[in-house]
Amino acid sequence: MKLFEKAHHYLINTYVKYPIQLTQGKGSFVWDNNGKKYLDFYGGHAVCLLGHNPKETLNALCQQAKKLIFYSNIFNTAPAILLAEQVALTLKPKKYQVYFTNSGSEANETALKIARKHTGKKHIISFKNSFHGRGITALGVTGINSYHQCVPNIDDFTSFAELGDMNSVKSAWKPDTAAVICEPIQSIGGMNMAKPEFYKALAQFCKEKNILLIFDEVQTGLGRTGTFWFARNVGVFPHIITSAKGIACGLPLAAVIVKKRISAKIKIGDHATTFGGGPAVCAAGLATIKTILQPGFLANVKNKEAYIRKKLTAHPLIACVKGQGLLLGIEFTKPMPHFVELCLENGFILGTSYNKKVFRIMPPLTVSKNEIDLFVKLFFQVLTQGTSEKRGFVTKFANFVRKF
Ligand SMILES: Cc1ncc(COP(=O)(O)O)c(C=O)c1O
Repeated sequence: MKLFEKAHHYLINTYVKYPIQLTQGKGSFVWDNNGKKYLDFYGGHAVCLLGHNPKETLNALCQQAKKLIFYSNIFNTAPAILLAEQVALTLKPKKYQVYFTNSGSEANETALKIARKHTGKKHIISFKNSFHGRGITALGVTGINSYHQCVPNIDDFTSFAELGDMNSVKSAWKPDTAAVICEPIQSIGGMNMAKPEFYKALAQFCKEKNILLIFDEVQTGLGRTGTFWFARNVGVFPHIITSAKGIACGLPLAAVIVKKRISAKIKIGDHATTFGGGPAVCAAGLATIKTILQPGFLANVKNKEAYIRKKLTAHPLIACVKGQGLLLGIEFTKPMPHFVELCLENGFILGTSYNKKVFRIMPPLTVSKNEIDLFVKLFFQVLTQGTSEKRGFVTKFANFVRKF
């Protein structure tokens, strides 16, 4: 049996998978089993912040793994404590505490649980087109209707406001509202963001109503937008920030960062997870964050954003480039079917979104100017070729998907 057939037989089929088998990665590139090289502007779904197999993270991981890969939270281990300290220092020293878990979805579920427990209320305000993960509670605050099938009583517990519109937030408020959860740049929703004043007004509104503000920074955090947290870029200190994706540069780790006046009330036994904060992943996380905090690193993210924007907006098919830092959405003037498949054929990877005109790029923050030049060259090459469905690779891809 060939490997793809085995995949069909043995893996539960919940993903649309491209008919490509990846075997290796280095920096901004990955390779398939035929030796074909791809420039990765999808960054393993915004996870590979420092590129693939970065030496800082890899060294820290290997050194810790040789000593102790894992022990559960019934004992202290240094990497989790040092990583929590480092994360808290990126906000206000001594004002935040950290809880480690394993994924963005779990981080958001934890944040919502803390908010409900802290306020004694149940209702949550979220935003249309947001995404917060695939656990039932996280789905229940995700603002994309197609995710709501398995979520019971969604209307009782969540109201969805419009990102950027404070009036809609105000009308969504109820006496039973516990928190507002906000994905500040809606990535999968099409890279939508509001004006900076909106986030400040949102924080002020939460303060007035005595409800918690949760920023889901699973995609926007850790320097992705050119500041360590998006919240700080807009002058906000949310009660809770959630982080995941690239925090350990590809190993499963997530963080819930909570203002101390709230976290101080959390009691032993209120929450737990087996794997969260294990020593090997936290050592990788610490090395990743220290690299991002090196002088000049974040300024460089902003320079790269400016460079990409300048190069891309020159094309007549491109309506605009949305987003911030290296979390960008290229919006075309029309829907582009099979665009990602054509990009793969041409040796680079990018991401789709729920807006059929918007394609997402979230390359490693370490991407070089030469690699950006290569991306732009390949990208324009695809636009010149056109997106006809009859082209060989696309037909092969469509046949493959049909076959299974
Ligand atoms: C903004 C945001 N929040 C939460 C999640 C869920 O994270 P995970 O897939 O690690 O559960 C994602 C995943 O893409 C996300 O983009």
